[in-house]
Formats: sequence, structure tokens, C-alpha cells
Amino acid sequence: MEIDAGRAFYQPEVNPPFPPTRSLDRGGKRRHHPRPSRPHPEPPVTDATDLINARYRDPSLLGGVAMNPVLETILSHSSCRAFLPDPIPPATLEAIIAAAASAATSSNLQVWSLMVVEDPGRKARLAALAGGQKHIEQSPTFLVWLADLARLDTIAKQSQAEIAGIHFLELFMVALIDAALAAQNAVVALESLGLGSVYIGALRNQPEKVAAELGLPKLVFPAFGLSIGTPDPKGTSGIKPRLPQSVVVHREQYDPTIDPSAIAAYDTRMSAFQTERNMPDERWTQRVISRVRTPDSLTGRHRMREALGNLGFELK
Ligand SMILES: Cc1cc2nc3c(=O)[nH]c(=O)nc-3n(C[C@H](O)[C@H](O)[C@H](O)COP(=O)(O)O)c2cc1C
Repeated sequence: MEIDAGRAFYQPEVNPPFPPTRSLDRGGKRRHHPRPSRPHPEPPVTDATDLINARYRDPSLLGGVAMNPVLETILSHSSCRAFLPDPIPPATLEAIIAAAASAATSSNLQVWSLMVVEDPGRKARLAALAGGQKHIEQSPTFLVWLADLARLDTIAKQSQAEIAGIHFLELFMVALIDAALAAQNAVVALESLGLGSVYIGALRNQPEKVAAELGLPKLVFPAFGLSIGTPDPKGTSGIKPRLPQSVVVHREQYDPTIDPSAIAAYDTRMSAFQTERNMPDERWTQRVISRVRTPDSLTGRHRMREALGNLGFELK
């Protein structure tokens, strides 16, 4: 059985939401709409349990939390690897980027930047650098999330200030975390708008060549890509199960023991997910081990320290 993105589980409130009390008229001035009276607001009609069950396929879950549209979007996530050619409207992209920028950012440094790539030739060259992944070319817009210390460096130089701190590993980590948090906010926002996306970590296979293709200065690192666009319904994969909370969550102190039966149960759930979609039934355990078996398994990324050095990061 195909477990779909979960839209069927959640029914929004019966009454439409209130319109905004203020909006802009054509001249850009604010105009006021009185709130209509709302005699019988309906309570939410479902809870989030069905979608949480779809995420874990774990019968031991408690359930019982009320559903809302934010939870629905997040719990329904699945990566999209097949796109229709429809372009992303500029205002939609602007809203997605605003969502990204709304993520928390360490010390408000905002040491991330975004590269928007829509030129077919450049997308093709980036796809070739990222292991030939076809969805990079197929999606109308390819985003590259950048850990960016160059802007801070330039701003400091313009103020004739010394900032020795940016050459430490900590600042690179701050920039990488900032970029990741911004990107995930963008993913939630675009999925809430009915769009789809897939992260492209393979963009780190050859970081120097990607940096050259994008004209990146020193101290800017292409952390990962994100193909975005309108999902092709033929290419949807559904809600992929995650490791049980009993394996992932620790309380007060880390417990290094791992219950083999919990991992075996997860292997079984992932096998079922794969089989339902006519995808190869490779055990999850085998798959993750083979992903890190040898340095070559990292598809070029085993030389990341050297690549970062070439891109100007001292990582003291
Ligand atoms: C940082 C990052 C890098 C990823 N890189 C790739 C990639 O290069 N190609 C790809 O097809 N999927 C990539 N993915 C998607 C993961 O394979 C996917 O998120 C994971 O299998 C879970 O599936 P789901 O997102 O559908 O729940 C990446 C995900 C993340 C978070």
C-alpha cells in the first residue's frame, strides 16, 4: 500500500480562516477590513497520530497531539526527485527565501548566502559535478546553500577591523549550521506551498570545481544544493520511515547500548517501504554501512579538509 504524503489524514477547519484585517490597496496604502463575526468555530477534527504513524510505522507510539497545518507539512515531508518544467514564480521564490532568512542564526551573524541557478547549461555542469543526478537539470531552479564568511571578512575590512576569529573551525561550523537551518526553513516553506525539493550533498564531491562554476570568492563554501520545483506526481515517493525514537532519543545521559531488535524492526519497515514502491529491497543497515565502508565510499568527499583549505578556510 502506498502511504501518501498524508493529505488525506488531515481535514482543515470547516470554517474558512478570517481574512486579514489589514491589507494593501493598489496605491500601497493600508486599508482596514472589519473582522466578520464567527459564530461556531470548529475545533481541529483530527490529531497528528496518523502522520506520526506513517513516519515511524512503530506501534508503540502514544499519539494524541492535535494536528495543525505546520505539523502536517513537516510530518508529510518526502524528497522529490521528479519535477514538472513549470518555473517558480519570482514572488514565490522571494517568499521561500524570506522563510529561509527567518531561521535563527548564531549571534545574528547571518553567515550564509544563497546561489540561485536557473541557466540550463550551468545546471547541467553542476549535475555532472554531482554524480550526474538528473533532477538537478530537470528542476527549474537549483539552489546552492553557501557557508559564507567572505561577507563578514569584507565588512570588517571596510571598517578597518581585524577579525582573526573567522579563521577558526568554530566559525566554519557556525556558517555551515546557519546555511543548513536556513535551507530547512526553505524546504518547509516550499512544501507548504505544494512544491517539492531534494537536497544535493553530492555537490561536495568536487567543491573547488563547483566554487569555480559559481564564481565563489575565498571563504565561501558550497555546502549543499537543493533542487526545487513542482513535483511530477509520477515521481512522488511518500513518507519514508525513520529510526524509532527509542534509538535516537537519550534522556539525561547518553546510553551507548543499541537494541538490535529495534534496528531489525527498522530494517523491516524500510524493506516494506522499498517493496511498496518497487524499489530495490536493500537492508538499511547494509546500505548505511556501505555508504561509509572505505574512503572511496565518500565519493570524493574524503579530501574535504584539503578542499576547504583550497577555498581559503584555515580551520584553526
Ligand atoms: C544534506 C543532505 C544531502 C542529500 N544529498 C542527496 C543527494 O545528493 N541526492 C539525493 O538524491 N538525495 C539526497 N538527499 C536526500 C536524502 O537521501 C533523503 O532526505 C533521505 O533519504 C530521507 O528521505 P526523505 O527526505 O524522502 O524523507 C540528501 C539529504 C540531505 C539532508
